[in-house]
Amino acid sequence: MRVLVVGASGAIGTRLVPQLMEHGHEVTGTYRSPGHAGRIRALGAEAIPLDLLDAGAVRRAVLDTRPEAIIHQATALANIRFSRSLDRSFAATNRLRTEGTDTLLAAAREAGVRRFVAQSFASYRYAREGGMVKTEDDPLDPAPPAAARETNAAMRHLDQAVTDAGGVALRYGGFYGDPDDGLIGPVRKRQFPIVGDGAGVSSWIHLDDAAAATVLALGHDGPGLYNIVDDEPAPVREWLPVLADALGAPPPRHVPAWLARLIAGQGAVIMGTQSRGASNAKARRELGWTPRYPTWRQGFTAAYGPAGQRPSPAAGRPVL
Ligand SMILES: NC(=O)c1ccc[n+]([C@@H]2O[C@H](COP(=O)([O-])OP(=O)(O)OC[C@H]3O[C@@H](n4cnc5c(N)ncnc54)[C@H](OP(=O)(O)O)[C@@H]3O)[C@@H](O)[C@H]2O)c1
Repeated sequence: MRVLVVGASGAIGTRLVPQLMEHGHEVTGTYRSPGHAGRIRALGAEAIPLDLLDAGAVRRAVLDTRPEAIIHQATALANIRFSRSLDRSFAATNRLRTEGTDTLLAAAREAGVRRFVAQSFASYRYAREGGMVKTEDDPLDPAPPAAARETNAAMRHLDQAVTDAGGVALRYGGFYGDPDDGLIGPVRKRQFPIVGDGAGVSSWIHLDDAAAATVLALGHDGPGLYNIVDDEPAPVREWLPVLADALGAPPPRHVPAWLARLIAGQGAVIMGTQSRGASNAKARRELGWTPRYPTWRQGFTAAYGPAGQRPSPAAGRPVL
């Protein structure tokens, strides 16, 4: 298939492009930052600049490249400063998930694109009641923390718009496997603590596995919603010490919930103590996907341990 990957120069994009090409797809990838074309061209794909918030440019790009499929992987989380307000940190990404998705879907419709796959998110979104591991049929959190309301609404919008259009939304777990992963710095510096009892559950996914599931989703009729997460959703108190160990960092600190609320806000407390993880049973069953790293226990060590250090696909590449 002729595939247009929007956000091909990013963490998942640079893993996805080679896997698509290995499966015989012809890939055009988009980038936003001047200088990131080389990341895509070095992978053997065509590269075009594109701002997803420029509706005219999106329309032209889609009509010019005439793709049979579009994969939306655009986010704007590089170098963001995490504050008490997740919505402030995610503001640009939220626009890419709402306006950007709508613009891309409209262009896809006009150009008669048959397949549409988009990046969504699984962790910390499901209703904080009942079991700790949720399927795609379970309700989303009806009352997300105040500081993350817009972010949750943007993800809902994307899920709905994409599936309404007959596409596939992939609710990925937290990405890991890149030397630039956002959690590495704070965990190394012991700035990411276990809050309260640390019972909040996270779901993780190695970037290579996320890319592999995306290739499979492209061959699947929509509409569809899939959790793309590993086999072991786990409480923070379990995965965080393993991540610290894999990084050669000291064990994480423990912080009482009241103190975390004071310093980082209610959202951080909810994430650390109440959040739910996600089940990958549907993706395994319907997409025929099997993660190469079934659990973060081996994945963190493979990614960050002494034997696992490897440059990211984007690193060390020519910039133009
Ligand atoms: N599920 C998760 O845990 C999750 C999800 C997303 C991101 N992250 C992590 O966050 C970190 C940095 O994230 P990031 O958001 O910068 O993601 P990224 O994966 O590095 O890149 C996102 C992609 O979107 C493109 N992009 C940005 N703004 C755009 C716009 N206005 N129009 C069109 N395309 C645009 C970027 O282009 P340029 O490269 O040219 O700027 C890039 O190709 C990475 O470590 C990543 O793993 C995690």
